[in-house]
Amino acid sequence: MTRELPIRFLGTGSYVPEKVIPNQHFIDRLDTSEEWIVSRTGIRERRYAAAEETTSTMATKAAERALEDAALTADDIDVIICATATGDHQFPAAATYVQAALGVKDIPAFDVAAACAGFLHGATLAAALLTTGIYKRALVVGAELLSRFVDQEERSTAVLFGDAAGAAVLGVSDSPEHRILHFDLGCDGTRTDLILVPAGGSRLPASQTTVAERMHYMRMKGREVYKFAVNKIQELIERALATTGLTPDDLKLVIPHQSNLRIIESAREKLGLPREKMTAHIDRYGNTSAASVPTGLDEARKDGTLQEGDIVLMVAIGAGLTWAIMVARL
Ligand code: ACO
Repeated sequence: MTRELPIRFLGTGSYVPEKVIPNQHFIDRLDTSEEWIVSRTGIRERRYAAAEETTSTMATKAAERALEDAALTADDIDVIICATATGDHQFPAAATYVQAALGVKDIPAFDVAAACAGFLHGATLAAALLTTGIYKRALVVGAELLSRFVDQEERSTAVLFGDAAGAAVLGVSDSPEHRILHFDLGCDGTRTDLILVPAGGSRLPASQTTVAERMHYMRMKGREVYKFAVNKIQELIERALATTGLTPDDLKLVIPHQSNLRIIESAREKLGLPREKMTAHIDRYGNTSAASVPTGLDEARKDGTLQEGDIVLMVAIGAGLTWAIMVARL
């Protein structure tokens, strides 16, 4: 069964903080090396937010750029969805701060928690809401301030993550050409132990002990996530191509979540795509979780790689374990 929705991308925006953190930052502090980080992950540098920045301030900057790109103002938006695992607080949602910062009132604004697959979950949810006809335009942001949730003393996660925000304005399409051609969301909730922040939630509230044991920082069983990601991304892409009847040649660009260059390269080789058809910004930004896909989408639109009418495939795996794929004709 086809999974088309009469919804299109009207504009995109992104924001990365100014501060560049090269691999040397970790080499100076931890038992690691340029060779390990680059060969195992593909990461050369990442960005860290300034002290005064928060997830919602970065999200707002990306949102403003997406609105400008769509030639719309915040008053044209009917719903704001922010995908994040690193919001300003446990509650309220980061999206509520974005709504206030954009100066709009009363419209719904809420967060989606699907980790690295969050932006595509948010975009799918937005598209479903727009398909009802009740809402006309949605602002979806993927924003993460991971540098405050990784243990800077733990080499296996510290080197991987960066801060960023990416946003898109989605609207009801006025043409059958420009639309979402496919979406697929999923989760295996038996794998929650593979990536999590152990303490600070209702299962293990924050205490002096949890802080002393650094349990308020992210923990990840990287090798197991890696194996899962390589297989699931392949499965999702194959199903998307079979469902839509598209071939790899029909895709102008594939934007995978940026968690490891080896995962990206494995998917690219299996698809038989040339390098320029697969986004890889992990060398510059590291893993920015929910921000990685919309940042890649925005950069590709702004540098001319993606033009109106092109077909883009976006795919992501995240903590949960969650997964999501979306194919759209821009
Ligand atoms: N520098 C040097 N050595 C290191 C470092 C480091 N920074 N980190 C780990 N090592 C060591 C380990 O201690 C281990 O040493 P040992 O063999 O002596 O025990 C060795 O390197 C291998 O460790 P692995 O974890 O097995 O390394 P791997 O090749 O699997 O790479 C990585 C780790 C990069 C994390 C990889 O597994 C990965 O990318 N996994 C997928 C991550 C992912 O997709 N996450 C999903 C999204 S995240 C989210 O949702 C928030």
